[in-house]
Amino acid sequence: MIKNINRRDWLKSSLVAAGGLIASPSLAFNSGKNHSLVPSSIIREVTPSFPIDESRILARLNANENPYGPSPKVIQAIAESVSQGNRYGHGDAATLITMIAEKEGVSKECIMLGPGSTDLLEKVAITRFQHGGNIVSADPSYMSVMSTAQAMGGKWKPVTLAADYSHDLAGMRAAIDGDTRLVYICNPNNPTGSITEAESLKDFCIEASSKVPVFVDEAYLEFLENPESQSMVGLVAQGKDVIVARTFSKIHGMAGLRIGYIVATPERIESITSKVRSTMGLCVTSLKGAIASMKESAFLGQCKSQNTECREYVASEIINLGYNPIPSYTSFMIFPIAMDAKVFMKSMYDEGVGIRTYEMYDKPWCRVSMGTHEELEYFVETFKKVTKA
Ligand SMILES: Cc1ncc(COP(=O)(O)O)c(C=O)c1O
Repeated sequence: MIKNINRRDWLKSSLVAAGGLIASPSLAFNSGKNHSLVPSSIIREVTPSFPIDESRILARLNANENPYGPSPKVIQAIAESVSQGNRYGHGDAATLITMIAEKEGVSKECIMLGPGSTDLLEKVAITRFQHGGNIVSADPSYMSVMSTAQAMGGKWKPVTLAADYSHDLAGMRAAIDGDTRLVYICNPNNPTGSITEAESLKDFCIEASSKVPVFVDEAYLEFLENPESQSMVGLVAQGKDVIVARTFSKIHGMAGLRIGYIVATPERIESITSKVRSTMGLCVTSLKGAIASMKESAFLGQCKSQNTECREYVASEIINLGYNPIPSYTSFMIFPIAMDAKVFMKSMYDEGVGIRTYEMYDKPWCRVSMGTHEELEYFVETFKKVTKA
């Protein structure tokens, strides 16, 4: 967290840090180098055309990170685990799998761990699209699975989100055909932050999974009011061919520690782990950290309430300025801006505010992640300055 942001101090310290690490904020898979990827016709990320010096960022609001984590107990568990770094973490992986299985109400054979859910999104795509086929998903959505599926030789069948930015389930049902190898649903969705109603989604998953596996990415689930009732994980316990992905990167505040998991039927997990390894990619540090974090319900609850409070603050400020954010159920918010996306992004970064920009539905948009309240106040102040509000 950045305390008492003072532009003069920042400029002074950034001069000292000049020549430090230059980083690109683009986290996108599709850097433009893989020409076989079909881009969305609705959304295009506007990536910076200037070098980014991370040491000059005062408010890092571009990657949906949790500004509060990891919890002090997780940090302690990780520090204590470092001395065990000479050993593989298979025992810790087994402990974590047992804890997750208990929490999700499924057997241990239903859990696969990975270094972040990205690893599992990609492994599912790699193992499903070795022999082509197509993937049905919403557009715009989180592109990880679709990018890997296409890179493997699969075809993407995008279905435009409904007018309220929920999944068009009828459209997705109609898009599934004999060549469909996977359906991908991101709920709540990134980058729109929007939600698809749980009961209709359950009906969709039950029907679609009788034909083809349905992958439901629940990276932001824990930010919802009643997360358990909105998860699709219960369908796995009922034996449906549904794959649910979760991550320790968001509510647990462990993005840089890289750990996540999927829940699926034992047969579906077996079909993946017969081709790629599961726990071999994990560090004892992240395993011990995740085990500790699973017991941190008070900390996780605090992260959620602070996130909600910050989201309400940003929404009200942005709405007061005359903008129209998509109602968000996540740890980020997106809204159309009235200025060229590249110019806006450069102006925000020049003031030390990291955000993401998109061209979506033929308009420029700003996506801002929920940082601390102080960072978001600075975001609002900078936004007003840059847009001359
Ligand atoms: C919807 C969604 N899924 C998956 C991920 C990947 O998360 P990680 O690999 O850190 O678990 C992200 C990251 O922002 C995301 O927004």
